[in-house]
Amino acid sequence: KRVAIVFGGRSSEHMVSCATAAGVLQAIDRDRFDVLPIGIARDGRWLLMADDPAPLALTSAQQPEVTGDTTVVVPTSPDGHDVLVLEPGQPPRELGTVDVVLPLLHGPFGEDGTLQGLLELADIHYVGSGVAASAVMMDKHLMKVVFAAAGLPVGRYIVITDKEWRRDKAAALDPVTSLGWPVFVKPARAGSSQGVIKVESHDELEAAVEAAREHDPKVIIEAAINGREIECGVLEGHGSDRPRASEIGEIEVIGGHDFYDFEAKYIDEANVRLSCPTSLPPAIADEVKQLSVKAFEAAGCEGLARVDWFYEPSGQLVLNEINTLPGFTPHSMFPQVWAASGLSYTELISELIDLALE
Ligand code: DAL
Ligand code: MG
Repeated sequence: KRVAIVFGGRSSEHMVSCATAAGVLQAIDRDRFDVLPIGIARDGRWLLMADDPAPLALTSAQQPEVTGDTTVVVPTSPDGHDVLVLEPGQPPRELGTVDVVLPLLHGPFGEDGTLQGLLELADIHYVGSGVAASAVMMDKHLMKVVFAAAGLPVGRYIVITDKEWRRDKAAALDPVTSLGWPVFVKPARAGSSQGVIKVESHDELEAAVEAAREHDPKVIIEAAINGREIECGVLEGHGSDRPRASEIGEIEVIGGHDFYDFEAKYIDEANVRLSCPTSLPPAIADEVKQLSVKAFEAAGCEGLARVDWFYEPSGQLVLNEINTLPGFTPHSMFPQVWAASGLSYTELISELIDLALE
């Protein structure tokens, strides 16, 4: 089968997406799949990339970026129609048909339903959730609305829309005090903790909201949740089967970081411990698995998702968020929890592609 791997993209998680692509290019089963690496530059151009993971790795010494000149057309669907030329400036290279697209994009313009809509229009199979689930689950506000309606436990929060902020900043910030301190100020639609600031007092709020607005004009402010940070991978079931939950993973930030921020996630990995399985009581681990499957179904996800939780000292579980295209480097939590559940990184990639082709 011919698989187009699409990575990079216009969001602030461009580098993370490149790192994910590096991992997949290295691990994908070459006996089963022909790989077509397509990078999306920060300006949105689609480029044919070398089939080489090395320049895509993310380290303290290298910040990978999609660059180049060979623009491409979106691959045609297996029955040969629907060619979308995205870069009219120079003659694009025809790529022929592909059987399936593996979107390795994080954040807006990739994880949020936009790419998924393009692929639906072109009638091309793709890995992961469809348009609606991708769009709603990209937005930390709409996500909580859906989960609360499904009876899942979400934390307290307030939302500041662009118009509210431009109308009256003081009025927009007024309800924040009801959340207690500290709070986390986040862009509603971003990821990898980009633009996320932990705020200890009202004095720091306005600057934090302005910083979050650099990523998204819609901002969410969440009450801090004090608890163990645990994550569960979910895979769609084959046929009419229900989704499958992985073993539970736990994140411990050991030193130097106030929370599991961007540096801790991708650069300073020595200060973070990911463990799987965890030392959680088995009954709690089972509950997390069941609720993660419930979240996946409530969200209408397909393919894969990682569901992130807090386990409070009181024993309460709080659903923090779901990620429809979770970080997927070999060091990321999603492949690790599946490895601990008996599915290697290579097998996991094959499984996702098989699900998309069903
Ligand atoms: N947004 C990052 C990639 C994650 O959820 O893992
Ligand atoms: Mg996220």
